[in-house]
Amino acid sequence: LRKREIGVWRYLEYLPVKDESKIVSLCEGGTPLYRCNNLEKELGIKELYVKNEGANPTGSFKDRGMTVGVTRANELGVEVVGCASTGNTSASLAAYSARSGKKCIVLLPEGKVALGKLAQAMFYGAKVIQVKGNFDDALDMVKQLAKEKLIYLLNSINPFRLEGQKTIAFEICDQLNWQVPDRVIVPVGNAGNISAIWKGFKEFEITGIIDELPKMTGIQADGAKPIVEAFRKRAKDIIPYKNPETIATAIRIGNPVNAPKALDAIYSSGGYAEAVTDEEIVEAQKLLARKEGIFVEPASASSIAGLKKLLEEGIIDRDERIVCITTGHGLKDPDAAIRASEEPIKIECDMNVLKRILKEL
Ligand code: F0G
Repeated sequence: LRKREIGVWRYLEYLPVKDESKIVSLCEGGTPLYRCNNLEKELGIKELYVKNEGANPTGSFKDRGMTVGVTRANELGVEVVGCASTGNTSASLAAYSARSGKKCIVLLPEGKVALGKLAQAMFYGAKVIQVKGNFDDALDMVKQLAKEKLIYLLNSINPFRLEGQKTIAFEICDQLNWQVPDRVIVPVGNAGNISAIWKGFKEFEITGIIDELPKMTGIQADGAKPIVEAFRKRAKDIIPYKNPETIATAIRIGNPVNAPKALDAIYSSGGYAEAVTDEEIVEAQKLLARKEGIFVEPASASSIAGLKKLLEEGIIDRDERIVCITTGHGLKDPDAAIRASEEPIKIECDMNVLKRILKEL
């Protein structure tokens, strides 16, 4: 923290922190922006970057929000923090609350949280509660606790979370030498991140750092796409899904709390919203790993799947400068990766067999 050369706190002047001594940090942000030449060739496009948020301390972009949100909790002298989560928020909050000596309770939809995320929340020492319901049910419950002032809520309805996450936009400008991408493609679940990133670009525009804005493009999973449906009708409000379903468990959300902000970001930037199937998500996840060496969890790959689809539909021009956000590390969901892969070959310790396999590579 002393130098703040890189990461979320590089942008301290843009963050709502009053007392720097209260900052809780694990050196979040400063994630790589990869130029993807192989994917450019594969998809026939000119300029593609992946902003890999899986490289954060707990493996997702949530850490950017949590460093600011938990710092705020610290300033307020809060003792107990909590959240509902599809996994990543709980992993991140558990880590930051551990680092700042707070008690932490997390509510997860039973049986629908990827293994890596569950392991993290448990291991950082949070009280982990599995709810017989989905994320939206769990969020209703923690909101009630917050209303009764029993916990400090760190879901993305907490504005301090979004303040941290807006630094994704700052970093993209920074890493592109102050050029602004034509389009930023973001996986959308509870819709906080796309709203936060838009806020970041707007703040850089208002303060004269940049003079253009990207088209904000949100991608949802086919089985959980209330924002895409609202966008198709050019509506301001969503109709929630009661039973959202997708392999991308991180974005298995039927009633995104930040939907109005996300729709505003999409409409006012001239962006777009599209949905992708589970098959398209897995295919994109593999493509990114096998063409670029970037391993992301299924929800993250929806930005790549969305890019592919919108190119095919002619919505995205092939000469746009595009940034896809990948939101979480592939190791978060080892089950999904193994299910989508070929089984390892089992052999005896036999060199001839091994050499035969090598020839067939
Ligand atoms: N990608 C990943 C890997 C996520 O974990 C999430 C959200 C999103 C995308 C969507 O971001 O909600 O800001 O639109 N995960 C939350 C959680 C809901 O509990 O970890 P969003």
